[in-house]
Amino acid sequence: MEPVKVGLLGLGIVGGGTISVLRRNATEIARRAGRGIIITHASARDLKKPREFSLDGIELLGDPLELVNHPEVEIVAELIGGTELARELVMQAISNGKHVVTANKALIAIHGNEIFEAATRKGVIVAFEAAVAGGIPIIKAIREGLAGNSISSVAGIINGTTNFILTAMREQARSFEDVLAEAQSLGYAEANPTFDVEGIDAAHKLTILAAIAFGIPLQFEKVFTEGITQITIEDIGFAERFGYRIRHLGIARRTSEGVELRVHPTLIPERRLIANVDGVRNAVLVIGDAVGPTIYYGAGAGADPTASAVVADLVDIVRAFTTDPGNRVPHLAFQSDALSYEEILPMEEISTAYYLRMQALDRPGVLADVTRILGESGISIEAILQREPVEGASFVPIIILTQSVQEKYMNQAIEKLEALPNINGRIMRIRMDPLA
Ligand code: HSE
Repeated sequence: MEPVKVGLLGLGIVGGGTISVLRRNATEIARRAGRGIIITHASARDLKKPREFSLDGIELLGDPLELVNHPEVEIVAELIGGTELARELVMQAISNGKHVVTANKALIAIHGNEIFEAATRKGVIVAFEAAVAGGIPIIKAIREGLAGNSISSVAGIINGTTNFILTAMREQARSFEDVLAEAQSLGYAEANPTFDVEGIDAAHKLTILAAIAFGIPLQFEKVFTEGITQITIEDIGFAERFGYRIRHLGIARRTSEGVELRVHPTLIPERRLIANVDGVRNAVLVIGDAVGPTIYYGAGAGADPTASAVVADLVDIVRAFTTDPGNRVPHLAFQSDALSYEEILPMEEISTAYYLRMQALDRPGVLADVTRILGESGISIEAILQREPVEGASFVPIIILTQSVQEKYMNQAIEKLEALPNINGRIMRIRMDPLA
């Protein structure tokens, strides 16, 4: 049988990885899919740019729309990123009756509801395994492997760049900027690295995970998002003294009050498996009522790992060519007419424990003022540490770990603490999670 012809939009890191994996493993891929899968057409912004991979046998097109409309292309792989042009091309591919594979988390998180509706109407598949956690088959695991469960939470490290930065800061005491530059040169970071370090990329991925775990529509705008730019080597060290690691987590949790959707730096106990996931690796903890806790671990970014997911989606689509569209795995795990809007809790309503770090004047009564304000706000202290003053310094760091409290009460307490004359500057607050 003729090989299946794929058109590739984008010849960047993931595009190159996809070409290379399809070539390298061509025989095994054909044995799995029942047909060969080849890239016959590709388009890129700059077709003349020198590349590290060969484009032999691939017809290059200057206009991406020409590729999407090309009668020979059976599956479109969208690997250009961004949300505007990508949306237009994916919608056009769907309208042409072509199946689509995408690694674009922003596209799915922001326009996914519209894209899946159009794809369902047209009877085509839009596959997006590569959009979340790189090479880890987390979409397949939740959507198919855990289909018998009621899932209560999905939490983990879903951005490789921030984990790479936090790991190097802890292990090598290197500056934030220095490690970020390395992550960019290795192809881990987004085109705009603000998306990584401010948590937007993780929020895109969490939006997708929450939808397929809980059967809710994609609601990116409701995710609380905080990045890692304020985290210091000092905080990483203090956390360790208390037996914690700082990780940048995405947390989607279903509680009796509503659904929590949040991305922020988090102190987690160092004995947790996820606390020991280093570098560009991702790890996701999914808790189902039947299976209990399960963990998925692997490379969350990079050319070959992301291509691993893109190619798996291509194989899935080829296997499903002749199936009845109504009997395929639904895009968001639940049948599209069975998705339900559950309340997404604002961050102020969510309860967590906190790590607080403040700079205090080394004077009698300062600690008493601090503990009084926390007590009056109903915040119970779990542990406290005051470092001896460094010679010549007038301020000493005070670190406090609290018990769980609603964020709105912590906000009020922090405001009062920052107003104390003996407390200098802003108070550093990092949320804690037992990840259990
Ligand atoms: N910039 C992303 C990351 C790439 O660092 O995880 C994979 O989505």
